[in-house]
Amino acid sequence: MKEIEKNKIAWSLLAKDHYKHFKTLLTERNCLINENILNELGNIEGKSMIHLQCNTGADTISLARLGLSKIVGVDLSEENVFYANKLKDDFSLKNTSFIESDVLKLNTIHHDKYDIVFTSEGVLGWLPDLNKWAKVVKDLLTDDGYFYIYDSHPFLHVFDEESLAKGKLEPVYEYLNAKADLGYDIGGYACKTKHSENYWWNHSMSEIINALINQGLVIEYVNEFDTLFWNNGNMEEVKPGLFRYPDLKNKFPMSYSIKARNKINK
Ligand SMILES: C[S@@+](CC[C@H](N)C(=O)[O-])C[C@H]1O[C@@H](n2cnc3c(N)ncnc32)[C@H](O)[C@@H]1O
Repeated sequence: MKEIEKNKIAWSLLAKDHYKHFKTLLTERNCLINENILNELGNIEGKSMIHLQCNTGADTISLARLGLSKIVGVDLSEENVFYANKLKDDFSLKNTSFIESDVLKLNTIHHDKYDIVFTSEGVLGWLPDLNKWAKVVKDLLTDDGYFYIYDSHPFLHVFDEESLAKGKLEPVYEYLNAKADLGYDIGGYACKTKHSENYWWNHSMSEIINALINQGLVIEYVNEFDTLFWNNGNMEEVKPGLFRYPDLKNKFPMSYSIKARNKINK
């Protein structure tokens, strides 16, 4: 698919900068996972996990350091996987490995099962087809395994970003039935943005939840937060790595999480 190929090129351009940025952070701090996620994940010691859309593996390494028995990161970009392996070697991590794959095709090349399928912070918008994605999630889970996602809220992406930074809510993008949004700049949260054609899809909450339900997964919870995991402009950092617009506390959701169990063993 043309759009996925363009996204692959766009993300690959950022790989080396992301590697350098996250190597510094992982030297200073043991774990880069934000508090919203850590509180919900709880104790994951001894579990096996697959981390979808892992970028250069910074969060994969943070999760590995929480005592997982095994973690596998997956990303579309060969460069991201190259630098993820480098980060793994820099920090001498055992039981951590990486796979290069389009997540939507992962179940055609990888057949292992995991206690936890994890994905977070800037993921679903890069995927054109959530029904295919949810099938991949289902196929990766052990019978009593669970899926966890923490991502930016689709309602946030309805508003113009520059207006939001000035405290104004200006709905310019579609929430329902949104088509691919063509962009030319990518990155910015961990390094300078780079100019490259890319495609992004705003999936509504019902689309996300129904894709999981249609695969027979049992939703344990859906949570919404008024904090975001990057500074969208003029936000205050309320907790490490979590930002809020000062005037929008409790006003609308910026991020969300979902936990869903594989149905077989409730
Ligand atoms: C915002 S980053 C996610 C970063 C993530 N929070 C982490 O763990 O560091 C989005 C990632 O999705 C990856 N990606 C985009 N489309 C993908 C696809 N179809 N299959 C697999 N990975 C994909 C990109 O290469 C990029 O690394």
